[in-house]
Amino acid sequence: MFKNLNVALYVSGSIAAYKSLTLARNLIKKGANVRVIMTDSAQLFVTPLAFQTLTKNKVFTNISEEPDEKEITHINIAKWADVSLIAPATANFIAKIANGNADDAASTTLLATNGKKIVVPAMNDNMWNNPATIRNINTLKNDGITIFSPTKGYLAEGYSGNGRMIEPELIIKKLENKLSNSNLLKGRRLIVTAGGTREAIDPVRYISNKSSGKMGYAIADAAIDAGADVTLISAPSKLSANNKTKLISVNSAADMEKAVRNNFNKSDILIMAAAVSDYRPLIYSNQKIKKNDDNLILNLSKTNDILKEITKTKSNQFVVGFAAETQNLIENAKNKLKHKNLDMLVANDVTGNNTGFNSDNNKVYFIDHTGIISETDIESKKNISKKLIKLISERIDK
Ligand code: CTP
Repeated sequence: MFKNLNVALYVSGSIAAYKSLTLARNLIKKGANVRVIMTDSAQLFVTPLAFQTLTKNKVFTNISEEPDEKEITHINIAKWADVSLIAPATANFIAKIANGNADDAASTTLLATNGKKIVVPAMNDNMWNNPATIRNINTLKNDGITIFSPTKGYLAEGYSGNGRMIEPELIIKKLENKLSNSNLLKGRRLIVTAGGTREAIDPVRYISNKSSGKMGYAIADAAIDAGADVTLISAPSKLSANNKTKLISVNSAADMEKAVRNNFNKSDILIMAAAVSDYRPLIYSNQKIKKNDDNLILNLSKTNDILKEITKTKSNQFVVGFAAETQNLIENAKNKLKHKNLDMLVANDVTGNNTGFNSDNNKVYFIDHTGIISETDIESKKNISKKLIKLISERIDK
């Protein structure tokens, strides 16, 4: 996997910079070509000569120095890199790249890079937990940059805290995982729906459900990571979408159905993770309903079942549904799989405390026509999404 892989290794000013020597060495041992770019403060911890000796390449440190008049170094490195690994990434360097600054060799080269970027933070625990860093990390995630989060461990400050850069061996293992997943859905057009639809009662009120959109957004991220071309059709959600997704914002079940229909025949995969309202008010009141009576009866009418309708028009799309159940999980899920003519179904029990609606975690069963394919533990929605993408990729052409 690393054979002839071009890795641009960015080193910023943290004591963890010494570990990046091992990282560079191990990457080279595995067959990668490594070019190092260092910030000024990184050079206070480790010398460029150390990296040059290991990588057999000149280290790029100074934007105004162009050793070869025929080339522009930062553009060359940016184009050359298959992967850009920022390790260690300090709080300051993270802030710079989150804002698109380009005021030294490292930040300028990174800003010119279109390829895969992975940030491996290293800092004091208070700096890692600072709202500004949290904001910056979220910005990077939304920009499609992968974060290999730090661990809790002994910090240079002399105490244990969360901010320690993960070890070089783990960085390589995670990179290996990332690369092996990155082509799973290459060139595939995937639609994922997310969130809970809203059915308007009057200009200020609506019926909805507890869905946060976390599952659908995590699937969109995992699909982007797997190389898919992703359209995210989202009911209102507080989450922000990865910049690499095509986001279509909708409100009601009818809006969502229209968006799915408009995109379905030019797609390869549809994943309906949205919690679509099953009913909407029969009559929409143009004016705010006044509280004149002690009881108010709302008449509701059934919405279209988007999945059931869309699979009637299916050619060779792979269609995945979700089943949110409070009882008879597997039996109900199998029925939905059949009635909605799905290729796969992700079933979850929504009564759990730490799983389901609004939670960061879930526990699901992946089901197809042969029965239960597999069952997860209580895991992050991010992890479950990766598993789902892997399962789809194994089945899509079969
Ligand atoms: N779904 C849909 N259109 C609807 C309702 C649901 O496409 N009007 C999709 C959901 O996005 C999900 C799957 O159907 O992928 C199952 O949704 P769920 O709420 O579990 O089941 P329902 O079909 O609504 O049935 P019930 O509420 O009776 O369990």
